[in-house]
Amino acid sequence: MKKLIVANWKCNPATLRQAQELFRATIKAVPKSKNVKVVVCPPSVYLSGFRFSAKGGSAFGGQVSGLKLGAQDVFWEDTGAYTGAVGPRMLKSVGVTYVVMGHSERREQFGDTNESVRKKVAAALKGGLCVIVCVGEKTREADASEYALYVKKEVEEALRGISKAALKNVVVAYEPLWAIGSDEADTPESTLEMALYIRKIIAGMFGNVVAQSFPVLYGGSVNIGNARAFLRDGGVDGLLVGRASLDSKAFGKIVEEANGL
Ligand code: 13P
Repeated sequence: MKKLIVANWKCNPATLRQAQELFRATIKAVPKSKNVKVVVCPPSVYLSGFRFSAKGGSAFGGQVSGLKLGAQDVFWEDTGAYTGAVGPRMLKSVGVTYVVMGHSERREQFGDTNESVRKKVAAALKGGLCVIVCVGEKTREADASEYALYVKKEVEEALRGISKAALKNVVVAYEPLWAIGSDEADTPESTLEMALYIRKIIAGMFGNVVAQSFPVLYGGSVNIGNARAFLRDGGVDGLLVGRASLDSKAFGKIVEEANGL
């Protein structure tokens, strides 16, 4: 399976010009690779500025790349009286192929719940997008079963009701909240446990066969120094990168690490 490396720019950078510069630099820094799929998720207002080549790759300033475009959220209706919302068809129409949803920052600051994430997952899949569902515990309590159950609930509720066929367009990103935006990444050993656990949850919902190859990503303080260890020993199929994706060279190095495995 190809590794999946996703850049989550979050609410950065501040202007279109800076976003275009970062995108151009990212195209340059990311090595062409058959083994790695790279998705860049800028703020949605910038998405349509990154034009698309006939092959479905993104292009900017004459540079065509294999980078895929992703959004950081989506609403569950395509159109209607929903002020401020962006629907799946809108994203699709500007060349977006992936959408991140249920990120802890959206859950904490914008009121996303397991139920709203479920509606977004269903709508995005129906609209032909690939979804990256973020899950992760807030803290690691002394009682390990407690945070495991928290993650289980997030996975089960987000994916409730989707068909086995649609599952091929779903990725789960394990992002423990305490590791996001901190300097304390998880360890590959504990990520491995969580990746296996998430696949077990998927097996319970959709059967063993699909669960075995179900893609799980790790996110939370990924950097050049730890990316390789997560990919090699963490049992994950890719990474969701926040801060380090705002530095095109660092991000390019992370993709290089994935490419070399
Ligand atoms: P950082 O890589 O900045 O910790 O952010 C992780 C994240 O939230 C990616 O979605």
